[in-house]
Parts: sequence; structure tokens; C-alpha cells
Amino acid sequence: MDKQQAQEKVIELSELLNNYNYEYHVLDNPSVPDAEYDQKMQELRELEEEFPEFITTESPTQRIGGEPLEGFKKVQHNVPMLSLGNAFNAEDLRDFERRAAGVTDAKLSFVCELKIDGLAVSLTYEDGKFIRGATRGDGTTGEDITSNLRTIKSIPLTIAEKNTMEVRGEAFMPHKSFLALNKSRDENEEEPFANPRNAAAGSLRQLDPRIAAKRNLDIFLYGVGEWEAGSLASHSERLDYLKKLGLKTNPEWKKCETIEEVIEYVTYWEAERPKLGYEIDGIVIKVDNLDQQEELGFTAKSPRWAIAYKFPAEEVVTILHDIELSVGRTGVITPTAILEPVKVAGTTVKRASLHNEDLIRAKDIKLGDTVVIKKAGDIIPEVVRVVEEKRTGSEKAFHMPESCPACGSELVRLEEEVALRCINPNCPAQLKEGLIHFVSRNAMNIDGLGEKVIIQLFQEKLIHTIADIYRLQRDDLLKLDRMGEKSVHNLLQAIETSKSNSLEKLLFGLGLRFVGSKAAKTLAVHFETMESLKHATYEDLISIDEIGEKMADSVAMYFSEVEVTDLLAELNELGVNMDYKGPKKQEIAQNTIFSGKTVVLTGKMDSFSRSEAKSAIEQLGGSVTNSVSKKTDFLIAGDEAGSKLDKAKQLGIIIWNEEQLREVLEK
Ligand code: IVH
Repeated sequence: MDKQQAQEKVIELSELLNNYNYEYHVLDNPSVPDAEYDQKMQELRELEEEFPEFITTESPTQRIGGEPLEGFKKVQHNVPMLSLGNAFNAEDLRDFERRAAGVTDAKLSFVCELKIDGLAVSLTYEDGKFIRGATRGDGTTGEDITSNLRTIKSIPLTIAEKNTMEVRGEAFMPHKSFLALNKSRDENEEEPFANPRNAAAGSLRQLDPRIAAKRNLDIFLYGVGEWEAGSLASHSERLDYLKKLGLKTNPEWKKCETIEEVIEYVTYWEAERPKLGYEIDGIVIKVDNLDQQEELGFTAKSPRWAIAYKFPAEEVVTILHDIELSVGRTGVITPTAILEPVKVAGTTVKRASLHNEDLIRAKDIKLGDTVVIKKAGDIIPEVVRVVEEKRTGSEKAFHMPESCPACGSELVRLEEEVALRCINPNCPAQLKEGLIHFVSRNAMNIDGLGEKVIIQLFQEKLIHTIADIYRLQRDDLLKLDRMGEKSVHNLLQAIETSKSNSLEKLLFGLGLRFVGSKAAKTLAVHFETMESLKHATYEDLISIDEIGEKMADSVAMYFSEVEVTDLLAELNELGVNMDYKGPKKQEIAQNTIFSGKTVVLTGKMDSFSRSEAKSAIEQLGGSVTNSVSKKTDFLIAGDEAGSKLDKAKQLGIIIWNEEQLREVLEK
């Protein structure tokens, strides 16, 4: 291909891909299968690699570019980004209308929009190109977060408006992304985000855009700031125009002719908001006509032509009966409030995590208190505060124990941690949690060893450590409740099968701090055997791309313990495999559709066996797991696929049939 042909091809592919991207992320209506998108993207990447002179900032390959920033630059908002006055009930809305009607003679009509609970941002397009994105900041000065905003796929990198145009909207994290993010933070022992808004803001204020890129943020645009050529007459026309330019607007907006119609809209969405896949905290009402907006003008802080109706936070009052303590797999003691069951935001809440002792002190929570409960981000139950007026004097102060509720050994507070920990490696509660983790699906996947059986095995003193699982005998198991010949046979079979698992499953199952299933895979691919991982130094570990300081520290520490050496020797002797069995590092293709993705296989396939499909996907850099969760990227469904398929549909996971998988593998 000569240079000119290459350049033409680069332009053609960029336009095509940007359009596919628009169909997928803005219209929610893709016209081609993902595989085709990925294949074209790969083609463009290869061309750009050969002819780097043709790479433009608008190329779809350039959403994540460059090195992490040193800090954020300041951005001046020439048209200030204001906030809104609030309304809390129908009367406030009628007042708003009366005030506006007193200023302008002509009839008022309104546009109602959902008030998205995220982070207000401004996007500037110059000559049709996205050149800058900023936070609201204090309204006049924000921060330049262009590189992070470029990673949001629903933000077009080019638009068909040549005049400089600044558009404004709300970047947010959909519920699905929020739940997946917190789940993985939990697995990696990182503090979860309290709600989607914090998660969105936290993601956009990262200096390394690769982090924001992984967070699956989205955006809705609802306004215009600076614009050289604004000749539209109303806000509703503006929304239509933004949409026409390919900018993502929220489809639920409505033009209302009277304030009573506005009140109806507000009431409707107050009830329907749990059905949206993202958080809203109210409704924004704007006078539609732009001349009238100008006439109405501004107060010091906010426009007179718009108001925010705030939904009351769904708070309910209940009694805190008790505080229960649990010992986690890593020995952390977590207090949980046991509540008189109450309905909040659609579900019954009986328990709420109190996180740690500091929080109990800060909120002055006592046993027997009447407390206010809400769901943070409408998802996670939380004790907001104590209703002090309801105290009778019979409430009891709560003190964290000095010793572990499970084993009685002294609890410690590690440096820089708020949590109390039991550091007894033989604590039965930790061992039990550790065992539950060891047998779980993405670890050793031993079916039939559920929590109830594990508890019994402990009580019967049949197991003390992980290694004891491999010493269980048929007769021992038959003694347990509800364990017949058949289930014992199946369980022993599952235990036997687990011995031949590849290294990463064992590694994840051992439950090293900070080592989630992805990290376990990285370590297994890199070191190939337990033996060589065991001898890896901190420096060896940290030199691996995906391994950070905390993890390197934890891995090196873990293998320096004698107990660990003994446990591994025992497992080895009992026949547990310690080698990595997947494709070797040099055999794993880079930048494929499956790179870094989690895939679940289900149903019957004609052209290949389950294990052939698995190893092919692994060679393309994917991991194959057993259960469908929010973390699953693809479900490959063969014939007669059942509940996994249903679950994947519910979660909106990409579903392929055998044919689609074969096409990709053949390529
Ligand atoms: S209009 C002057 N529309 O709510 C007009 N704001 O207090 C200002 N927000 O900072 C904004 N959804 O972050 C507008 N559909 C919507 C909105 C919205 C969310 C946020 C925005 C703003 C705050 C207003």
C-alpha cells in the first residue's frame, strides 16, 4: 500500500469506527457485531503503527493517549457554570412559575429533564473537534480533564459544527458499572465507593486516564455554554440540535405547557427512578424560550429561568437492635447493624454495615437506638444518624471487644488502618471464610462444598486447614447431615478434579491479600510454577506491568511464612497441581477482542469442545470463568443454554452464539 492509499484508508476506517461507536454508545443501537468493530479497529491500529504520521487526535485509537499527567491545568469558564435554586414540593414549583410569570408577559412553557447525579462537565469543540473537557470547579475556574473525558465512548471526538461550541452536561457512572467496580474493589481489599456519583468524580479526577478508561462512565449533555453561532429560539431546539450533532442527550426530557404538567412529570419520575439504570436526584425545570430566559436573567448564584426539584432522600426510621461482629477472610472485624426490618427504596433492609469502630463513635450509635436509614446511591443500606430525641436512657453503649469473637485472641489495630484485625492465622472464622473462598467458583471450583457443609466439617473437626479438604474420606462425609451416597460421591469427585486445576485457580484460592483472580492469572502466566513464584523477589514482582507495590509486598511476604511453605508442601504431596496449564506468555496474542476480558461458556457446541474453546479464548488473552456476574464481558451460548443465558441477558452482557465465536477464532 502506498502512502496516499494508506492515508485514505486511515481516514475511511476512522470515520467508519467513529460512526459504529456513535451507534453503539449514543444511540444504543449497534449496526454491526462487536467482532466486526474490533476487527476494523485492529486494522486501523496496524495501519497507524506502520504510518504514524497519519495518526490524528480524532482517531478512535487515540481515546487513551499519552502518559499520566503531573496535575490538572486550570480552565476558565467564560460563561460561568452556575448551580440551580431548589424546589422541594409542588408549592415551590408553583412559586417558581409565579415569579417567572411576573417578569415576562408572554406565556411560559417549560422543559423538564432528569437531574443526573454525576459530575457537571464542559466539553469544547473547535472546528468540529473535541479539544478540551473540564470540570465545573467553582463555576468560573475548573480543571482540565480532557484525557479522562476522551475515554468516555459516548463523547464524540468530532461533531458537524464548525463554530467553536462549548456543551455542558453530566458525566456519570451507570449502576451496572458501579456495582462491578465496587465488587472488584472489594476483591482487592480496596475501600468501595459510597455511591455512583463519588465513583464518577473519583474516576475523572485521576491523573492516569487508563483508570478512567476502565470505569465505564457515560454522559448526558443538556446545555450550551460559549457558542459563536447560537441562533436557536428555545432550549428544546437546542436539545434537538445537540442530538443531531451526535451528542448524547437524555431521551426522557419533556416539554410541558403548564406548571401542573411539570408537577405530573416530577411525580411520575419520583416513582419510576429505580427503573433507570443510573442515579438521578431530581428533575431540572427550565423555561423553554431563550428570549424569556434572557429576560428572566440571574440572581447572584443561579438563573431565574430554571430550578431543580430535589427528590426527598428515601430515609426511613427503624430500631437498631444489635451490632453483630464478623471476622473476614483476612481477619478484619466488621460490625454490622441488625435492624428492625424496614422497606427502603423498594427492598427490605435488615442489616447495614457499620464498617468500623470509628464510624460507630462518630455517629454515636448505641444498641437500642432509633436510627435513620437510607440507601447510599439508592443501593447500599447505611445508617445515616441516630434520632436522639427518641432516646429513653435504656440504650446501651457499644464497645468493640478486645479479643476476636471467634477465637479469643487479642485484636490489633494495624498502622494506618481503621479496622481491628484478628491476626491469629489459625482463627477458625478466618479459616472458614478462607475455605469458602478456596472452594468458590473462580478459585478451586469444588461443587458441593457449600458454606453449610464447611461449617459442619469444622464442627466435626474433620477439617482445620485447606489441605484437609484433600484428606476427606467417604465415611466421614456420610456422617454429615443431608449427605447421601450420591452427593458424597459427587463431592469426592469434585475434590479430585480440582487437584488438576491450573496454578492461577490455586493461587487465587489461597487468598493472598490484594491478589484477585485477574492478578492470580497474571502471576501464573508470568511465573508458570508455584516454585518459581515462591522464589520471586519484590523486585521481580514489581517489574511486572499489572503488579503494583502493595501486591508485590503482599506476595513476597506471603511466601516468606513458614506456615505457607508447609501448606504448599502438604498440598503438593496430596497431589494438587502447582503448574500453570494455560497458554504461555509468548503464545498469548496481544490486543485481541478477548484481551483482558472475562468470558463464560455455556450450552452445547458442535464444532469444538468446551476445553478447546477455553484454550482458544485464553490464547487470545481472555480468561474463562464459570459463573456469570457483572464482571463477565462475554457469554458464549451454545445450544440449550439455560440460566446463565438468562442472567447474562438481565445484566446486559454481550452474548454470542457458537457461529460468532467460530468466526472470531478463525480470524
Ligand atoms: S442545568 C444554569 N440540567 O445539577 C443551568 N443541570 O444545581 C445549570 N444537573 O451543576 C445546569 N442534570 O451538575 C442542568 N438536566 C440537567 C442536569 C443538571 C444534572 C446538575 C448539574 C448542575 C446541578 C444544578
